[in-house]
Amino acid sequence: MGLTTRMLTPDTWDDFAALVESNNGVWGGCWCMGFHPGGSTGTRQGNHDAKQQLVQQGAVHQVLVYDEERCVGWCQFGTPPELPNIKSRRAYDAEAQDPPDWRIGCIFTNSKDRGNGIAAAAVHGALEEIKRAGGGVVEAYPEQTADRPPQRGAYLHTGPEELYARHGFVRDRRIAKWRWVMRATL
Ligand SMILES: CC(C)(COP(=O)(O)OP(=O)(O)OC[C@H]1O[C@@H](n2cnc3c(N)ncnc32)[C@H](O)[C@@H]1OP(=O)(O)O)[C@@H](O)C(=O)NCCC(=O)NCCS
Repeated sequence: MGLTTRMLTPDTWDDFAALVESNNGVWGGCWCMGFHPGGSTGTRQGNHDAKQQLVQQGAVHQVLVYDEERCVGWCQFGTPPELPNIKSRRAYDAEAQDPPDWRIGCIFTNSKDRGNGIAAAAVHGALEEIKRAGGGVVEAYPEQTADRPPQRGAYLHTGPEELYARHGFVRDRRIAKWRWVMRATL
């Protein structure tokens, strides 16, 4: 695949929307709203509209991955105020420490294109953007895949640990049976 990355902006909104629509709204219509302030609106159309409004306001950091002109995946990142709603939030908050400068929220690859390095390209693109924006401490909340039965990608909601380990992220603490806080300094 000839993979390239672009940021999600009003100019690339239609490409993002086509990908989300072809994946049934992603998780029943989340539209990648779950980690933003306010979280899901509770309806597909509400999430679509809320996400589009955030994009129009420039309040979203999200790398899109393209195979030629087709958008095939993304990696969402942002500051903690931009992405306050991580998965396993209660366990995370119970042992809260200094907040990171950046966190990676949602990662997603078109269901028919998995296993082709798209998520890897998305994380690489996000980390490059974070460096360009000044870097700092970055957190991700991926899932352990070693020492457990093989998992379908569909169940690796926050991505596999290997995706981050290869960029120097190290385990900080466990926040769910298979989910870790991983940190790196860029
Ligand atoms: C997890 C997910 C992002 C992986 O995307 P992908 O484009 O298939 O991943 P890549 O091909 O870039 O793989 C990168 C690395 O991740 C790891 N990986 C990917 N899928 C894996 C799996 N099912 N099990 C174990 N490791 C996996 C591998 O280490 C792989 O590296 P390798 O190719 O050198 O072995 C994808 O399956 C997905 O979108 N799942 C749904 C996630 C979701 O629902 N997100 C929204 C909810 S918040």
